[in-house]
Amino acid sequence: MDQLLERRNFVKHSLRFYPRDITARSDLVQTSGATNGLHLILSTLVDLAGVIFVDEYTYMIALETIAQFNTMKIVPVPLDDDGPNVAALQALIDQHRFEATNGKLFWGVYYTIPTFHNPTGIVFSAEKCQQLIKLARETDILIACDDVYNLLHYDDPSAPPPKRLFAYDIADMGRLDGWRGNVISNGSFSKILSPGIRLGWMECPPRCVEALRNSGVLKSGGAANNYTGGIVSTLIQMGLAQRQLEHYSTNYSLRLNAMAEMLEEHLPKECSFRKPKGGYFVWIRFPAHVDCAEFNRYCLEKYSVSAIPGIRFSITGKARHFIRLTFAFHEPDYLRRSVRTFCEAAKDYLAIVASP
Ligand SMILES: Cc1ncc(COP(=O)(O)O)c(C=O)c1O
Repeated sequence: MDQLLERRNFVKHSLRFYPRDITARSDLVQTSGATNGLHLILSTLVDLAGVIFVDEYTYMIALETIAQFNTMKIVPVPLDDDGPNVAALQALIDQHRFEATNGKLFWGVYYTIPTFHNPTGIVFSAEKCQQLIKLARETDILIACDDVYNLLHYDDPSAPPPKRLFAYDIADMGRLDGWRGNVISNGSFSKILSPGIRLGWMECPPRCVEALRNSGVLKSGGAANNYTGGIVSTLIQMGLAQRQLEHYSTNYSLRLNAMAEMLEEHLPKECSFRKPKGGYFVWIRFPAHVDCAEFNRYCLEKYSVSAIPGIRFSITGKARHFIRLTFAFHEPDYLRRSVRTFCEAAKDYLAIVASP
């Protein structure tokens, strides 16, 4: 058990990453990545007959992970441009709330991605974050934040990253009498070092740290992926992780600019997108009659380019006329060529499926 405490030590030097809302060592639980973190949250902290609220458009692999918990109810929440529709979430909570009796901490969890959301790229506004904290405290749900893109922000590299929801929960009432803590920040080194190392961390309120520590899974061995934790700890202490992060941020910013310039110039005027300020993705809206899964097949067959159709990010099938592009993987020149081709394909396809 003490070993677990020691292993948590590995991110204490990452204070520079979150400079304005200090990371406390005692809040940290080491994981083998954010997907493992989400799995641990669902299996350990939430009633297995409980409810999982998800944004209506969310990370497709999280949806697949969540679907494994087939005794739980999955409820979609409408998403506005600055975060979830909190009134709708409140109504859904009122509709599904029940008294958990089997010893788990939470009857319900809201899984979300408040910063550089996948797939939409949005960042939740301060107002929405405050409303969410209030709602979570009143109804005692857990908010599980997938915080894997927070540090990849491109507007002003010298500015701190957007404030994470976990910091809102400890900022105004945190650690005072009566505060229980309703947010987990589920972080990962996948996007800021490498996905292959399978290492992440969760910042949790004390009641969640205790429950996770007492679950058999983390007791055995003290923590997930200790050996790599030691290596990454050294990379952080030597400043090499920071250097790698700066390298990624500089390059991704150039790649995003290349993609956005081409889209602004060549995307058919019937389509629209918003340039994100961080993360990996651009979310493109097509006219409502277009099925982007069909369009994607057309792109691949006729133009040898492809993206991910919106339907993959939805449990209700509502995102059919959206498609997600990724700018993180390719060099700017390659992106310029392929985005130009994508736009030509869009123009041709819109002419073929002209609205009835
Ligand atoms: C929102 C989100 N969460 C989690 C992950 C995966 O994280 P990890 O490799 O740490 O499991 C991704 C990767 O695409 C992602 O977009």
